[in-house]
Amino acid sequence: MATERTALFMFFGATGDLAYRKLYPSLFNLYKKGSLRTHFAVIGTSRQTLDDDKFRVAVKKSLADSGNRADSKEASDFISHFYYQAHDVTDTAHYSVLKDAAEKLDKKYKLQGNRIFYLSMAPQFFGTIAKDLKAQGLMSTNEDAFNRLVIEKPFGRDFDSAKQLNDALSNSFEEEQIFRIDHYLGKEMIQNIEALRFGNTLVESLWNNRYIDNIQVTLSEKLGVEERASYYDNSGALRDMVQNHIMQIVSLLAMEQPVAFTDVDIRAEKVKALRSLRVYNVADAATNFVRGQYGSVDNQPDYRHEDNVPADSTTETFVAGKLLFDNYRWSGTPFYVRTGKMLADKFTRVDVVFKRPLVDIFAFPQSQNTPLAANVLTIFVEPHAGFSLQLNAKTNDAGFSTEPIKLDYLVDAEKSKETPEPYERLLHDVLKGDGTNFSSWPEVSYAWKFVDQIRRVWDLQAPNFPNYTPHSMGPAAAEELIQRDHREWIYRLNN
Ligand code: NDP
Ligand code: BG6
Repeated sequence: MATERTALFMFFGATGDLAYRKLYPSLFNLYKKGSLRTHFAVIGTSRQTLDDDKFRVAVKKSLADSGNRADSKEASDFISHFYYQAHDVTDTAHYSVLKDAAEKLDKKYKLQGNRIFYLSMAPQFFGTIAKDLKAQGLMSTNEDAFNRLVIEKPFGRDFDSAKQLNDALSNSFEEEQIFRIDHYLGKEMIQNIEALRFGNTLVESLWNNRYIDNIQVTLSEKLGVEERASYYDNSGALRDMVQNHIMQIVSLLAMEQPVAFTDVDIRAEKVKALRSLRVYNVADAATNFVRGQYGSVDNQPDYRHEDNVPADSTTETFVAGKLLFDNYRWSGTPFYVRTGKMLADKFTRVDVVFKRPLVDIFAFPQSQNTPLAANVLTIFVEPHAGFSLQLNAKTNDAGFSTEPIKLDYLVDAEKSKETPEPYERLLHDVLKGDGTNFSSWPEVSYAWKFVDQIRRVWDLQAPNFPNYTPHSMGPAAAEELIQRDHREWIYRLNN
């Protein structure tokens, strides 16, 4: 059994999609594993008029919908810790009601004043809520207790708005009390990057520009915008996926070895890496980043004909780009990234492409041997978790020629079922006060500064959309981007 943690959770946006689909089932998993047991309580709030019983019925349904036995005694015991309080977050005077409820539950469940405020609602409210949590006395004043603020994405829509938001939060919470969710950091194989790099001499000793030719990060989605178009059309793939998830993955791949495996040390190295990321001038931004928007095929309408998308939308549903780090480890080794909706398949992977041997001794005159392939280390993040290492070996026959072979490690399907969902891990980290897998403000700010420059250039010129076919790997420009450097994407359709 895990160590039991003690806290009051206050969920703002408690009747929303994220809360029902992810947060309550994740809390229940923590309960089943023993991280939550007796000394915890949940206050859910939104404007909806509900009482505790109705809220508990909704939470029970959320557990059932996520595949749990919601009629078990364990589920009923868990749900008995849930309470509801209708509250409009813009109504300052009403916070006192939440405060009274929190104090009552604190006594009832002996919560020692520990509080987790989870803002699962539109970011426009984050500043107001943070201000009133402090001003209206909802933060615990008990010296030994913790107050933690968890916030959902998006964190601003550019550097200026992100800074404004951060300034607002900082008036009430210290940086170490703020947990900015990036659910990619809760994924098993993203966390495995550190184990792979810093747990293996074989890997880390080669992890630099002397041996690595390029690194490719692909976050490919098969679905379109579905029912989220009103959010997505104001965001686009650059803000929705690159600024956060891709920049986080890239910083884990690029960072130096942390002094120790602590959140402070890891974040410090990620920030150092992001500081050395080259922020492009106008010309380089235009050359090194390309965008796309999906067209139509068969019954699939093009992006501009999806529900809630304006017919003249210039929002990109695809991005590919080249990132360059100006530091000793990575100078000259590009990181290529791409992400998009309505692509060939749903998967996330990282391909680390090593340099070919300087001399190919098998390519002697009259040799029939094909040139040696590059060694490639692939990190499969999803849907299957694992690694694959491509090496060159002798063909198993009487002659002497070489062929690429693969050493594969795939996490066993049964074992994969036990892998905690990102939100379960991240909620557990919040309970422990471990900020490793959350985005710190300096990381967020460097990522925005990089992305803003691309956006600025794109905003100067109307794109020629649509420019890619659904179920492909994006526009031709994404191929040209990498071919120009005499390279190719390791993942291609049908390989
Ligand atoms: P929803 O729109 O489904 O839920 C919003 C919640 O906020 C509802 O409970 C709503 O209830 C409440 N709310 C809205 N206005 C107020 C108000 N003035 N006072 C009090 N409560 C209010 O949003 P999601 O759950 O989808 O998203 C929540 C956050 O999580 C967003 O920041 C989103 O970007 C992020 N996110 C969501 C993901 C998802 O899969 N859903 C994925 C990644 C991030 P009511 O209207 O009754 O007040
Ligand atoms: C979210 C984006 O952050 O990540 C979505 O807002 C995207 O647009 C989603 O679909 C992808 O996450 P995952 O875990 O399904 O790869």
